[in-house]
Amino acid sequence: MFNPFEFINMGLWSISIGALGAAVAGILFANTDFFLSKSENAALEYLEETDLMTIDSEPRSFKAKNLWESNGAVIMAVRRPGCFLCREEASGLSSLKLQLDQLGVPLYAVVKEKVGTEVEDFQPYFKGEIYLDEKKRFYGPQKRKMMLLGFIRLGVWQNFYRAWQGGFEGNLEGEGFILGGAFVIGAGKQGILLEHREKEFGDKANLTAILEAARKISKQTAHGSI
Ligand SMILES: *[C@@H]1O[C@H](CO)[C@@H](O)[C@H](O)[C@H]1NC(C)=O
Repeated sequence: MFNPFEFINMGLWSISIGALGAAVAGILFANTDFFLSKSENAALEYLEETDLMTIDSEPRSFKAKNLWESNGAVIMAVRRPGCFLCREEASGLSSLKLQLDQLGVPLYAVVKEKVGTEVEDFQPYFKGEIYLDEKKRFYGPQKRKMMLLGFIRLGVWQNFYRAWQGGFEGNLEGEGFILGGAFVIGAGKQGILLEHREKEFGDKANLTAILEAARKISKQTAHGSI
């Protein structure tokens, strides 16, 4: 016999299952690379002309190309100095410091802004000079952002977990949605040998690949100065 209540009940059930299915599908879809901001490779000419500022009591401005002109450089574009994933990445890159020193290749980082003592507090995690890239050119040419999507991506949670297990801590100061990355830039006009664009929060550059690229830097004989 037809029971209207049972009918409604079944209807509600299928709606809830449908909604659940849609939510699950949405989350799965968010975990694909479909929504990620596409990155565009930076041109050497574009990076060279970046005005960087020193971070000290008497800030000086200089062209970024000074950083790599004579010996090339490994440069980290820090998403946010207070972010614990970024600190983890910084200490990973710093673990290459000895090998980079042997190759004579300097290690630098750039930040987008100077908020309070954020840069000073980040320094212990990073064994290199840190400069301010106010125009965020190292994060461009097309700035890529990850916002709420970042928190439903499994990869991001895995990165959180890894960094948390590693004992890294951070805070919530400063802008943290524009994604960062890492570069290995050859000396003079040799070009960009490696460009890692963080695809989601905590997507670290491959250290082996960084070191391999750094070995390919051919030094200029004339010495430039910063
Ligand atoms: C890191 O880079 C090295 C050298 O390019 C490569 O052999 C290795 O598979 C990479 N590792 C990962 C996890 O991608």
